[in-house]
Amino acid sequence: MSSNPYLIKVASQKGGVGKTTISVNLATILQELGNSVLLIDFDVANPSVGFHLGIENQNVGLDDVLKGKVRIETATVLHAPTGLRIIPGNIRSSSPPPTSTQLTKFVNELRRTNYNFIIFDTAPGYLVPELVDVSNEAIIITTPELSSCTSCIRLANSYRKHNLKSQLVINRVKNKRYELHVQEIEEMYGSKAAAVIPEDEVVPESIAMHVPAYLKDKKSAFSKAILELSRFYSLKTQDNIRTKSFGLIGLIKRLLGIN
Ligand SMILES: Nc1ncnc2c1ncn2[C@@H]1O[C@H](COP(=O)(O)OP(=O)(O)O)[C@@H](O)[C@H]1O
Ligand SMILES: [Mg+2]
Repeated sequence: MSSNPYLIKVASQKGGVGKTTISVNLATILQELGNSVLLIDFDVANPSVGFHLGIENQNVGLDDVLKGKVRIETATVLHAPTGLRIIPGNIRSSSPPPTSTQLTKFVNELRRTNYNFIIFDTAPGYLVPELVDVSNEAIIITTPELSSCTSCIRLANSYRKHNLKSQLVINRVKNKRYELHVQEIEEMYGSKAAAVIPEDEVVPESIAMHVPAYLKDKKSAFSKAILELSRFYSLKTQDNIRTKSFGLIGLIKRLLGIN
């Protein structure tokens, strides 16, 4: 059964808050839950998905696809331990950034693929604003510190102006007295967080081993929190497939509550 891919931009205005960690683990779990997932390293200045997953430097990558030098399939790598498809980043310091026409062409091609989810791990800040116009939704990551939260709210406001819906994820929560409380952050943001993810040693340990933290220890506090977030998104594709399930069989299935 195929449906339009659901494009998620994982974003933050500050660096080092956990975008790559959350992109990699969300993608891993969505794939494990039965979705087909393409994870794209859009952090052109500092690509690190390959490092997190132990993917060797590739000859081709995102830059080549954006510039039209190779097709999407040619730059797509299968990550055997997770079953994920990845388009790794490649730094081409001498190469000019992609034009918005190149980016639009790339995203139009992505939309015609059969993936259930396409996850963009992005660079901090407002870089690649065009992704804002093409994504179905953004996940904005913050840590429970004032500077991170205020920049996350600025980002959410700018997405709102572009009509891009976003979900708040609070990462690296240690429950220390000096941290902002989850409720305070939610009040500032204006709605509840889609996930509250604890600080957990499994994350740096797993990055050093080049495996997703979720696969290293599914029972860890980090894994439980990210699993909940992934289930929330996985339900979206089921809804998507259900609404596309037309005809008599689709009607009967819907009446019986079968996907
Ligand atoms: N929940 C967490 N618990 C512990 N360490 C974390 C957690 N999330 C991220 N980190 C650490 O923070 C650092 C930055 O994470 P990363 O995902 O690379 O951030 P970004 O992509 O936003 O720059 C990594 O070294 C990682 O080990
Ligand atoms: Mg990153």
